[in-house]
Amino acid sequence: MPMNRRQFTQSLGAALGAGAALAPRLHAAPPAPPAPAAEARPILLDNNENPYGPSPAARAAITASEAIACRYADFTEPRMIERLAAFYQLPHNQIMLGCGSTEVLCCADRAFLAGGKSAIASRPTFEVVLTLAQAMQADPVTVPETADFRHDLPAMAAAVNANTGLVYVCNPNNPTGTIVTLAELRAFLDRVPARVPVLVDEAYYDFVDDPAYGTVAPWLSRYPNLIVARTFSKVYGMAGLRLGYALGSPGMIAALRRHKLPMNANQAALAAALACFNDRAHIADQRRRMFASRNWLYAELRRDRRRYIPSQGNFVMIDLATDVEPVVAAFRRRNILVGRKFPAMGNWLRITIGTPAEMRAFMAGLRAIVPARAA
Ligand SMILES: Cc1ncc(COP(=O)(O)O)c(C=O)c1O
Repeated sequence: MPMNRRQFTQSLGAALGAGAALAPRLHAAPPAPPAPAAEARPILLDNNENPYGPSPAARAAITASEAIACRYADFTEPRMIERLAAFYQLPHNQIMLGCGSTEVLCCADRAFLAGGKSAIASRPTFEVVLTLAQAMQADPVTVPETADFRHDLPAMAAAVNANTGLVYVCNPNNPTGTIVTLAELRAFLDRVPARVPVLVDEAYYDFVDDPAYGTVAPWLSRYPNLIVARTFSKVYGMAGLRLGYALGSPGMIAALRRHKLPMNANQAALAAALACFNDRAHIADQRRRMFASRNWLYAELRRDRRRYIPSQGNFVMIDLATDVEPVVAAFRRRNILVGRKFPAMGNWLRITIGTPAEMRAFMAGLRAIVPARAA
């Protein structure tokens, strides 16, 4: 039956009335999801990061870099290279920036291991060079460390042969925290043929206090096969921003550059790095904090009569005398992430030095999971 105008208006009103009741449910923002159970953030002692983060100047620069986030780093990248060039007294063609020093390590593999060449490294050491070598069907050759957990440089030099594409020296070494001295490195570099590139990874350079240690950066003109890798991830507290760099002869840097990602350095990282590079006061402060936590840890480990390797880095290897894997899992259940297993030292736990509160939580966890030996 056709409706007249009044009936139509009435039915519309009724429909709108019903609709009005529905309206809030149809148009309001969806209800908030139930609040997740309050879960404490994990304590991160697994990646050798710096828990204190970037310096105040670097933080301010990161915030200010918002204004140039829409621009490629065409102006800031050369400024960073200029800063490094002035500091190391090197021309620009002896420096390459990397997306972390990881990119430097990857470029070295790609540049020097093609065609089934071999990469020589200590065992154990930081794995990136060896892992990518394997992916490239190159041959990873690992040389056992010495009895005092250091690179066996004479044995590494002896392992060099016609098929060697790259030698990787991690100094200080991750995970052992040990160093090789400048004198030992000099003897080693004198032995390795000049056609074989040697990459010295100095990621933890700023944490060392052993006077026999030093950077090999001043030796680049003497050894044209030498590459030095450095990072802003450790003492500068910028692991998440991703910036590292390589120093080398023009030939080495040209070879690496062929394999780097174009525009690999981002504006925020460059701004922060320009603000904090070689900030001696900040570096001294970070060292002081790290040494305090590390010394506290040493004292607690000694009190428990646990064996550990005195470290020149922001991490320590602790002998658990038992397989480390279940221990890592048990720490995870306590919301504490600790270092992965290094197969060559399967009973040793690598622990990153965190804040004092984090170290106390770690020691409480350790005593619960692997009780101290009886006196
Ligand atoms: C010895 C060593 N080299 C290089 C890296 C990679 O650092 P990044 O890529 O953050 O510079 C690490 C990271 O832990 C490391 O331990």
